[in-house]
Amino acid sequence: MIKLENVSFDYSDAEDLIPADKVINNISLEIEKGSFVAILGHNGSGKSTLAKLFNGILIPKSGRVTVDGMDTSDEDLLFDIRRRVGMVFQNPDNQIVATTVEEDVAFAPENLGVEPSEIRRRVAEALETVGMTRFRQHSPSQLSGGQKQRVAIAGIIAMKPECIIFDESTAMLDPQGRKEVLDTITKLRQDGMTVVLITHYMNEAVYADRVIVMNDGNVEMDAPPRQIFSKVERLKEIGLDVPQVTELIFKLREAGYSLPHDLVFPEEGAEAIEKLILEHKQR
Ligand SMILES: Nc1ncnc2c1ncn2[C@@H]1O[C@H](COP(=O)(O)OP(=O)(O)OP(=O)(O)O)[C@@H](O)[C@H]1O
Ligand SMILES: [Mg+2]
Repeated sequence: MIKLENVSFDYSDAEDLIPADKVINNISLEIEKGSFVAILGHNGSGKSTLAKLFNGILIPKSGRVTVDGMDTSDEDLLFDIRRRVGMVFQNPDNQIVATTVEEDVAFAPENLGVEPSEIRRRVAEALETVGMTRFRQHSPSQLSGGQKQRVAIAGIIAMKPECIIFDESTAMLDPQGRKEVLDTITKLRQDGMTVVLITHYMNEAVYADRVIVMNDGNVEMDAPPRQIFSKVERLKEIGLDVPQVTELIFKLREAGYSLPHDLVFPEEGAEAIEKLILEHKQR
């Protein structure tokens, strides 16, 4: 549903005399409808810039981005593009605009000119999805970080988007808030939503169908999580971690133990190690 063709971007503007460094360097890729894509990369590798190119917040300097066939460089289409591709940012406080939860969620569909009765229906449904119905009359300022993020997500859901991009939306939250937001993402996935998750947490990325690793404006890797995390050394070279279980198995393999190289979930790691211990005992 989102297609990039030879897209490059830099932050220079018309007055800049010195050419700025390319922040996105000739990237072509496609985000398929209904998929769950995680984007990883060191600080400044271009993740947020890429995300903003996905929904027309930024326009490519060269190449083409289309959303359901609509070119993001066509200003007449921007409204429709941003309605289809919603974005949840890092800081929940910057995304709250109204004085009650309900009004906040209604804000975006109101701006789209949706009928009042339909707005009420959508707000109720969106609050239900994120599990915030009983807080509908509350002031957002009284909520925890995780709750505020869920309200921000409800505001996006109320626009009926096809895709939601989360740009490090769990980075400022405590473990409880992070879990709340991840559970909400899981729910959205079950409802068929296309999800792009930008994160520094490897244990969030393992649940994606596909992981894109950015490095200095280039796509360094693009594959399912097991394939990505089996490249432990390369990931470390470009400033990334791997899930704890992957790291443990990597070290055991280095020490000569025979274990599968592509484990990413703690349970399967535990199982593989248990099997190994039992085998050793039998000898
Ligand atoms: N508004 C801007 N003006 C000028 N340069 C910018 C601007 N925003 C980002 N950059 C630069 O573009 C590069 C890519 O930044 P971007 O924010 O896309 O990276 P990121 O991968 O999202 O990083 P982080 O993990 O820190 O969020 C960096 O070198 C950054 O300094
Ligand atoms: Mg960023």
